[in-house]
Amino acid sequence: MRQLLRLIPLLLCMAACKGVQTTLDPAADQSVQSDLVWRAMLAVCGFMYVLTMAFLGWALWRSWRNRPVDPPAGQQQTERALGLGLTAWAGLIVAGLSALVLISYGVDRRLGQIGPDPIRVKVTASQWWWRIEYEGETPSRQVVTANELHLPAGRPAIIDLNSNDVIHSFWVPNLSGKEDLIPGRTNHLPITPRRLGVFRGECAEFCGLEHAKMAFKAMVDTPQQFEAWREAQLTPAPAPTDPQAAAGEQVFMTHGCATCHRIDGTEAGATLGPDLTHLASRTTLAAGMLPNTPTALRDWIADPQKIKDGALMPKVPLSETDRSRLVAYLETLR
Ligand code: CUA
Repeated sequence: MRQLLRLIPLLLCMAACKGVQTTLDPAADQSVQSDLVWRAMLAVCGFMYVLTMAFLGWALWRSWRNRPVDPPAGQQQTERALGLGLTAWAGLIVAGLSALVLISYGVDRRLGQIGPDPIRVKVTASQWWWRIEYEGETPSRQVVTANELHLPAGRPAIIDLNSNDVIHSFWVPNLSGKEDLIPGRTNHLPITPRRLGVFRGECAEFCGLEHAKMAFKAMVDTPQQFEAWREAQLTPAPAPTDPQAAAGEQVFMTHGCATCHRIDGTEAGATLGPDLTHLASRTTLAAGMLPNTPTALRDWIADPQKIKDGALMPKVPLSETDRSRLVAYLETLR
C-alpha cells in the first residue's frame, strides 16, 4: 500500500504530460521537433547531473571515512587513474554538448521547412484579442473570424503574424513554439498539424493589463470539416425573422455597436473590434474568457470591464429590454 502511495506524485507528474496546453503532448510536425530537443536536453543533462551527484556522494563518503585521496604509496598509479578519469569526463562533456548541438541544428533546419501547398492565415493581435483571416481565391472568399483558429490536419499552414498595438506572442504549445507579433512587421510561423483536436493558445508576451486574458483556441479539423467550416463562414448574416431579434438588430445599429464591429450582410462594417458575422458559432467570448452562452454574452455586454478590466469595449448604456433584444439578435449569427 505504502509503495502504491509513493507512486501518486509520479502519476500526478505524468498526468501533466497530456492535455490541450502542453509542449509535452505534441500534435504537429513543429512541436514534435521542439519535443525532440527537450527530450535530448533532459537525457543529456539528467545523465550528467546523476553522474555529478554520484561523484559528489562518493567524495563525501571518502572524506567521512577519512581516507586520504592520495596515499603516499602508489602515488604515480593514482595520478594516472585521476588523469584518465578527467580525460574521460572531459570526453563525456564534449560528446554530450556535441549531441545537443547536432540535434538543435537539425531541428532548426527542419523547423524552417514548409511543405507543399500551404494554407495562409493572417493573425493580428490587439489588446486583448486575436483577429484571424483566411485568404480566398477572390477577396469575396476571404474569411474573417476572431479568437478561434481552424486548421486542416495534415496540410502545412503559414501563420502571418502582425500586431495592431504592442508586442504580443502567439503560442499554441501543442502545435509549435512561440512567435512574436510586432507592430509594423510580419513574422511567419509554419504549423503542420497532424492530430485532430482542440488546443489552447495563449498570448505569451506581457502586453498590458489583460495579457493573462488573451487566449484562443486552435481547432485541428479533418480537411472536409475545415472546408465545411470555411464555406459556412463565407455566408453573410441572414436578416432576422424573429421580431425580438429584428428589434435587436436595430439596437445593434443605433447604439454604437456598429462603430466597432462588422456583421457581413448588414450596414455594420467596422473592424476595430472582432468580426461578429458568425459570433454564435464560436465557442468562447472575450478571447477565451467566457463560454459562449446567452447569459455570458449578456453579462459581457452589460459590463465588459467587470470581466476584463481595461477591455477596450465600452460599457454601452442599454435598458434590460434592449439588452435582451440585442442578445437575441447576436444569437442568430450562426
Ligand atoms: Cu497579448 Cu500578452
